[in-house]
Amino acid sequence: MSTVTPVQKELTAVKGTHDILPGEVEVWQTVEAAAKRLFESYGYRELRAPILEHTELFEKGTGETTDIVTKEMYTFVDKGGRSITLRPEYTPSVARAIVEHRLDLLGAPMRYYYIGPMFRYDKPQKGRYRQFHQMDIEVFNEKDPAIDAEIIEMADALLRTLGVTETATLVNSVGCRACRPAYSQALRERAGRDRDRLCPDCQRKIATNPLRIFDCKVEACRGAARDFPKISEFLCEDCRVHFAGVRAALDLYGLRYKVDPNMVRGLDYYTKTTFEVVHLGAGQQNAVLGGGRYDDMMKDFGGPDICGIGFALGVERLIAMLTLKPEPRRFVYVVHLGDKAKVEAIRLARTLRKAGIETIVEFAGRGLKSQFSRANKLGAAWVVVIGDDEIGKGLFQLKDMAAGTQVECAPAEIQARIQNRK
Ligand code: HAM
Repeated sequence: MSTVTPVQKELTAVKGTHDILPGEVEVWQTVEAAAKRLFESYGYRELRAPILEHTELFEKGTGETTDIVTKEMYTFVDKGGRSITLRPEYTPSVARAIVEHRLDLLGAPMRYYYIGPMFRYDKPQKGRYRQFHQMDIEVFNEKDPAIDAEIIEMADALLRTLGVTETATLVNSVGCRACRPAYSQALRERAGRDRDRLCPDCQRKIATNPLRIFDCKVEACRGAARDFPKISEFLCEDCRVHFAGVRAALDLYGLRYKVDPNMVRGLDYYTKTTFEVVHLGAGQQNAVLGGGRYDDMMKDFGGPDICGIGFALGVERLIAMLTLKPEPRRFVYVVHLGDKAKVEAIRLARTLRKAGIETIVEFAGRGLKSQFSRANKLGAAWVVVIGDDEIGKGLFQLKDMAAGTQVECAPAEIQARIQNRK
């Protein structure tokens, strides 16, 4: 027997990426199915955009001064000389697809969801990966603060459906193009006075985009940012009224939340509402999901002047919080010995699979006893035995493993017997 040691780095997964193996993937499937059901019950439809986009989409959409664009994108030049990026987030892709296909002209509710991989070249640690997965939802053309509250409620409903309880919902308003410049200026002045407390990166942000100092993970910068002026003191009338509307609608839903004036989120496109759900006690990477309103993105893309709002949930972070055990699979294992039995096993498997019954037939040349104990070890719900005796009689053995009962029956009866016990 040889031992395989994957010493060469090309035989291990790329740093910050993970295989999701059978045994774990069932939890993913359960979570994805629950999310799809829930999103669709709120009128969302799936929109699948490509993983590759033009780099400019994120520069323009996500924002040129964000950590994502300045430090974390997987960008390369393709053979045609184009600058291409593996999407670091999904929101700009949805906005692009709407503009490209003029989905706004269809008259249907503009509510979209997607579940898939995103890519960010960040320092991997628990809860932070280079390829990770998001469940993303976006709504367009709905201005009313009730929709802001509805999507926060939908996020909450998803977490409750999956049995997640130890969370807190944080909300804020980051203002709009009318009121944020005055706030940015106040921040710039304040951060300028605190320059020596800030890391070199944040010192640069004072000039480029002082709001982004709130995203810094350096403890000294976080400490300094705690004393910075609050956006709530700078909101214009429109933003104040909207935020009050969001809070009133959240109260209507009976949702518990906390207003966090420092929660500005790490993306440039947000206007008005931002929110996050954090896992209490999950350590530093504790945001399970985050989102907000982005009323200018479509217009900035040269598309229609349509507002947008959405959130994305980190699937790895969600799964780490779950205690969910997926239902064990119920399958048939067909034990066979001899050439004729092999033919019968194949025939039976085809019939059962056509009826939607998972059926395993293996061809490893094992003896009857060893096939039987393998079926047992794999956790088969039923075992069918086909040997010379069974071929001779035209009756196969069907064993119900949980009940421990065994019957002899004609091949044509097996499907119905299994279906009756399912
Ligand atoms: P985000 O806050 O950058 O927002 O990401 C959303 C969620 O994705 C995070 O709360 C976290 O759970 C997960 N996440 C982000 N980065 C990583 C990582 N490196 N490893 C593991 N999980 C991660 C957005 O992406 C926005 N597009 C959300 C949005 C949608 N806003 C409006 N619409």
